[in-house]
Amino acid sequence: MDKLLIKGGATLNGGIRISGAKNAALPILAATLLTEQPVHLSNLPHLHDITTMVELLGVMGVEAVINEDMSVEINAGTIKDQKAPYSLVKTMRASILVLGPLVAHYGRASVSLPGGCAIGSRPVDLHIMGLEAMGAEVQIVDGYIEARVDGRLKGAEIEFGVVTVTGTENILMAAALAEGQTIIRNAAKEPEVVDLANCLKAMGAKIEGEGTDTIVVEGVESLHGCEYSVMPDRIETGTYLVAGAVTGGKVTLKNTDASIMKSVLDKLSESGAKITTGDNWIELDMEGKRPKAVSITTAPYPDFPTDMQAQFTVLNSIADGTGVVEETVFENRFMHIQELVRMGAIAQVNGNEAVITGQEKLKAAPVMATDLRASASLVLAALVAEGETLVDRIYHIDRGYECIEEKLQNLGATIKRVAA
Ligand code: EPZ
Repeated sequence: MDKLLIKGGATLNGGIRISGAKNAALPILAATLLTEQPVHLSNLPHLHDITTMVELLGVMGVEAVINEDMSVEINAGTIKDQKAPYSLVKTMRASILVLGPLVAHYGRASVSLPGGCAIGSRPVDLHIMGLEAMGAEVQIVDGYIEARVDGRLKGAEIEFGVVTVTGTENILMAAALAEGQTIIRNAAKEPEVVDLANCLKAMGAKIEGEGTDTIVVEGVESLHGCEYSVMPDRIETGTYLVAGAVTGGKVTLKNTDASIMKSVLDKLSESGAKITTGDNWIELDMEGKRPKAVSITTAPYPDFPTDMQAQFTVLNSIADGTGVVEETVFENRFMHIQELVRMGAIAQVNGNEAVITGQEKLKAAPVMATDLRASASLVLAALVAEGETLVDRIYHIDRGYECIEEKLQNLGATIKRVAA
């Protein structure tokens, strides 16, 4: 298993290009199952999770043509069966996103239950509730979600008890081909949901209210192909902004969108960063200063994203002062804290709250990652630790951060990938 070897101490300076958003690309790839016509997708990030989703479509008989510019053309007209096997689903929970499109377009789906993961039980009961409300018969048989509907799904009024991003996306895709109107209440407002809706509308779907907590869909008989470019990744953007902040540097991120990052940019400004933005770039300048500690509470968009929580615990670990981090979305998303404590951080976890008192420096130590964002936070910690840190289990990182070592090297970090 590869590891990343990072020598701390460099101040990051320079510019990098942000990749397409993993969490928009995944539902949009699943949406190609809603039509028999070719869908041409660009700005897809080159990530393991994307490869896994393309592989999942492949095992169902849906071929993807990868062009020389790394754009992808997918035509689900060649689909052979509607089964998402455990062997693939266990490596990526987002595989659940094929459930809605398969039932809506083919009347049946057999999708392995994703199972829990490091950050929580991650149930999919709300996905199933929504499809049942639309007339699907759903049973769990031998660890698989077996969903069936005779004819078309029927539009329905569906209210989610908690905000669920992929739950909203699954029902949105299913509603696009359902008969009649679907209203999704307490819908996720994440920009990635809006990006999916924009792609579905380019395919002929009739959707209103995306980006608000009430989405209204008028089902259509069929959807056609389209050309679509995936939005930039706001979490990758936030991660590199924090890399600049913790090292006291000046970083410029291109091909990104400041308008969907208000909660994160506000917290970086509060920590002392000078932020300037343009229509497709963001610049952070710490002017050599140590960040001030900030307190954050994660919550669904537009509030502070849970996917940026681990990165900000690193900022607080070396900040001036004490910061309180409250995690309200997942039940077990502080596993990186123990690794940071091994690097000298002063942190106390009480339930869903972590109190972190900043230190001038962290100390290098061999650490290992547990989930995608926790692993990125360990890389950030290594950038400001004295000595060389070896980060293990970086397959988590490769799932969500395209070419992380090259991008950090471009900003002046001393980082290399070493084979185990
Ligand atoms: C999406 O996961 C993202 N993944 C996650 O990003 C992100 O952390 C999360 O949304 C929250 O923003 C993708 O988009 C592929 P949820 P998702 O359903 O949809 C509960 C990353 O790092 N819930 O919004 O799986 C659930 O337990 C990943 O890129 C139910 O109870 O998250 C959680 O407490 C990590 N029943 C809360 O809702 C359900 O049926 C929010 O989960 C579904 C969810």
